[in-house]
Amino acid sequence: MKHIIPALCLAIGCATQPAIAETAFEKIKVDAGAQLFAAECRRCHATDADHESYGPPLENVIGRAAGSYPDYEYSIALEASGIVWTPAALRAWMEDNDGFMPGTKMRHVGIEDRTVQDFILAYLDSITTRDGAAISE
Ligand code: HEC
Repeated sequence: MKHIIPALCLAIGCATQPAIAETAFEKIKVDAGAQLFAAECRRCHATDADHESYGPPLENVIGRAAGSYPDYEYSIALEASGIVWTPAALRAWMEDNDGFMPGTKMRHVGIEDRTVQDFILAYLDSITTRDGAAISE
């Protein structure tokens, strides 16, 4: 991602303040990710336990053990998978969830565009405020 920063700086004239540009770029990614999440995921996923959620809420999902959200009725496939939601696993999931994990009850989403994946990951990271592993304890 680093190589994008100089181009962005040229465009918005921030060449002398790369740190600020990087922060701005992160914010743009998170904002774009929030919109993509709203369009692609939100109808099934809340981001916390306070809102109704057909799928498991996705707060603190990065680093979380798959199938570990308390009281959620997972498919056997997901519950028994033994995987952890790393960014790479989340990419594979967004790209082809039922191919990645046959037997999951999440309907297929086919987000193959890496940039779209990047944005959604940036958003998921922004709602990961603690180690997701803590959820399963
Ligand atoms: C049509 C509804 C639906 C949509 C749209 C949807 N999901 Fe899901 N998702 C589910 C269901 C249902 C499960 C539980 C699957 C299971 O138990 O096999 C799930 C599970 C997950 C899990 C596993 C979480 C855990 O606790 O192990 C992740 C991560 C996830 N979804 C991410 C996403 C993302 C990111 C998007 C948008 C790109 C998305 N989902 C779109 C219904 C949906």
